[in-house]
Amino acid sequence: MRIRNKYRKPTALRCIAGSRCLMSNVVWSLVGLLVMLHLYTLLSHTNVQSRVARSSSISRNPLISELEEVEEENIQMPPPRRRSPRAAKRKPKKPTTLIDEFLDESSQIRHIFFPSMKTAVDPMNAVGNESLYYHPGQIWLDTEGNPIQAHGGGILYDGISRTYYWYGEYKDGPTYHAHKKGAARVDVIGVGCYSSKDLWTWKNEGIVLPAEENDETHDLHKSNVLERPKVIYNDKTANYVMWMHIDDANYTKASVGVAVSDSPTGPFDYLFSKRPHGFDSRDMSIFKDDDGVAYLIYSSDDNSELHIGPLNEEYLDVTHVMKRILIGQHREAPALFKHEGTYYMITSGCTGWAPNEALAHAAESIMGPWENMGNPCIGGNKIFRATTFFAQSTFVLPLSGLPGSFIFMADRWNPADLRDSRYVWLPLTVGGAADQPFDYSFGFPLWSRVSIYWHKRWRLPSRWSA
Ligand code: DGJ
Repeated sequence: MRIRNKYRKPTALRCIAGSRCLMSNVVWSLVGLLVMLHLYTLLSHTNVQSRVARSSSISRNPLISELEEVEEENIQMPPPRRRSPRAAKRKPKKPTTLIDEFLDESSQIRHIFFPSMKTAVDPMNAVGNESLYYHPGQIWLDTEGNPIQAHGGGILYDGISRTYYWYGEYKDGPTYHAHKKGAARVDVIGVGCYSSKDLWTWKNEGIVLPAEENDETHDLHKSNVLERPKVIYNDKTANYVMWMHIDDANYTKASVGVAVSDSPTGPFDYLFSKRPHGFDSRDMSIFKDDDGVAYLIYSSDDNSELHIGPLNEEYLDVTHVMKRILIGQHREAPALFKHEGTYYMITSGCTGWAPNEALAHAAESIMGPWENMGNPCIGGNKIFRATTFFAQSTFVLPLSGLPGSFIFMADRWNPADLRDSRYVWLPLTVGGAADQPFDYSFGFPLWSRVSIYWHKRWRLPSRWSA
């Protein structure tokens, strides 16, 4: 027999209506919600931690640990130039920055940014222990002893010939300004191609897509602009397909051009140019995913955002699918890569030929949303990191057999003499927790950190082989 305790107060739960009942429901719901949140946090923490642990185990790979050593760089500002007291009175001197020095052709420290021919890296005449060492910013000679001309370029690994091909802007001509306000330019000469088995010794394969000398209406007429050529292989059509930025001297045409060849060393047949998806398109790149689908990514809407969309099966055109990403962020020079199912990208800001700060971005789907992860540059010094080591991204090359390790390829533009622009190749690794992710899952970053390490001189791990 149940004895009713007449002194027991009726619980709020048992009440049928009234504010007390409501209050208690709210309190219990809140408690439930908090418990669930806590559980979710724990779960996502474990998830993220295991992802981070997985990727940081890559960083502990002894093969690449020396690439990840942080190297400092100390650049002293030159003493201020002497000015006559009259000049000083007329125009008080603004404090100069290292970027001003970098852009000043007559700077006393120019040799730091653009070391002379005396220090050129010559793979054919490398003595002893100099072999296979990259020297970012130093002149780099091909197998014939000429400075490599492959600016704004990218690399294709050709499985058929087991060879790397480096394509880029062949800029070996005089720099001039088409008019007073025009950007520094070199007439179009064409797309240069170099081949290599070791990613260090490069043989000149010639100009695989030459400029048009006479027909002024042709996209490739020398008075126009051809920038950032990239080549991918189409397994279905057995064609090498090149996409590039095509423009007029004032950058108002803002289009992409497409060319095709049945050989990696060309010649490439130029097909057409267009504004992809009907939008203006300037800095661009293409990316071939593991499933064979290729994508075009380009700066659009006056460089204020990026657009990304798949190419058709032949890689000869875009489709109607396109997503706008990094809207309002004014990024260019996109260099896309993938690691463990996550897409990553390095971009630059928009400051013409002058260097600026790189950003890393990540996405679960290539079509976005893309998140910012902050500046990936490590080492050098503050100004090195704030200027992408005085260079601008162009391509990120995965190192086969070293998951999570890549070569970051960038251009150190020399607007006074564009043909003398330098290559800044540095190790890029994906691993460890991102330090400045915009997207947090209850306090834990969603992405692995992308790091680009400054080195004055470095080489691929000695046991790495193409
Ligand atoms: C920045 C771009 O990234 C380069 O490819 C080139 O178009 C320059 N602007 C021209 O100023």
